[in-house]
Amino acid sequence: MPVTALVGLQWGDEGKGKVVDALSGSMDLVVRAQGGANAGHTVKVGGRTRVLHLVPSGMFYPHVEGIIGNGVVVDPLQLVQELEELEACGMGVDGRLRISDRAHLVLPHHKRMDALQEVLRGPSALGTTHRGIGPAYMDKAARAGVRAGEMRRERAFRVRVGEAVAAKNRILEALGEEPLDAEACLEPLMAARKRLLPLVVDTVSLLHDALEAERHVLLEGAQGTLLDLDLGTYPYVTSSNCHIGGLLAGSGLPPRSVDRVLAVAKAYCTRVGAGPFPSEETGGVGEEIRARGSEYGATTGRPRRCGWFDAVAARFAVRLNGVDEIVLTKLDVLAGLDTVRICTGYRLEGRKIRDFPAGEELQRVEPVFEELEGFDADLASSGCFEDLPRAAREFVGFVERTAGARVSRVSTGPERDESLTR
Ligand code: IMP
Repeated sequence: MPVTALVGLQWGDEGKGKVVDALSGSMDLVVRAQGGANAGHTVKVGGRTRVLHLVPSGMFYPHVEGIIGNGVVVDPLQLVQELEELEACGMGVDGRLRISDRAHLVLPHHKRMDALQEVLRGPSALGTTHRGIGPAYMDKAARAGVRAGEMRRERAFRVRVGEAVAAKNRILEALGEEPLDAEACLEPLMAARKRLLPLVVDTVSLLHDALEAERHVLLEGAQGTLLDLDLGTYPYVTSSNCHIGGLLAGSGLPPRSVDRVLAVAKAYCTRVGAGPFPSEETGGVGEEIRARGSEYGATTGRPRRCGWFDAVAARFAVRLNGVDEIVLTKLDVLAGLDTVRICTGYRLEGRKIRDFPAGEELQRVEPVFEELEGFDADLASSGCFEDLPRAAREFVGFVERTAGARVSRVSTGPERDESLTR
């Protein structure tokens, strides 16, 4: 069955937006299945940079239909703003975007609680995006969430939101915090409801009908496998499952419908927010990678922490997702360095370990690096993979051997056409 799943292999920001955009030319439907507006998918179209948070990145092609699946937490205010921005630049998606009636809503109290929880965590703060993601998924798991389908009944929706705000106000007041004004929260929400309601449908049936009609579907992962709630670097993770399992649960598609799992990995690693990062370079090299790769968060603008490609983590993520092919992005960022490194193992209390640890051990491991010859030249001018400098091709071969999946494509610049098939 014609479903391609695309996942991030690291801590997000692997360049999935560009890869989704490139794949979408041959897709009929592109589906976001987890996460929310914490994602920032950057796509360069016609020399202009666009950042999408909730609208699937593949929708820059006018024939592509987009779905915000049941596993996404949708901030109605953010989504309306994004739709308006797209319309303003002549890229409106009206008539092509659908929102699952099962998707949970991120409401103003979730954003407030997100910020407050971070303050309460003190020095153990996670460095969240403050987009209300954790609290919205908390309410979902507590069976107290408000779903998009509930917007259909105006009066009942008002009551549900009012009750939800009142419940959070009890917590805020107990902590000596200013409570939220339910009416003030409702006003913009009711305007957003009007705009979004026509888009709310049963996306699960829609997707199954699309499969039966042999239409091509792309599941567009957000964040990255190492931020997965169950399998990532807990507790420094996001609150959804970002690996392939989350894409299935969050779209309602069965495992057997997926015939290709593509993973996107950067030629080096970055992460934003707190948490372990064994191959991190905290000194000048890290700064150099950040500057060359413009490594600043697409959602929050925060500088990203930078380090070398971590093959231990990549191998773990390849196994979890059953990856068929890797798209290696931003190889050009490493061009010009005298030498480049790949983390091939960890050392913990003198022992070498090959597997990715589950817990606090990850904070204490020392990386074992393999040093490779650097490569120069303007990679973007290479016409095909074989034109790349020998050392660059060797780097790619090393990534593939250590991560355990074939690198089928290499990205050498931000533009749509700056990538090479291998
Ligand atoms: P939250 O998802 O806002 O709760 O943030 C939890 C952690 O995930 C923080 O370290 C965030 O920086 C990180 N995170 C969330 N979404 C993304 C993303 O799209 N790219 C990179 N990091 C992310």
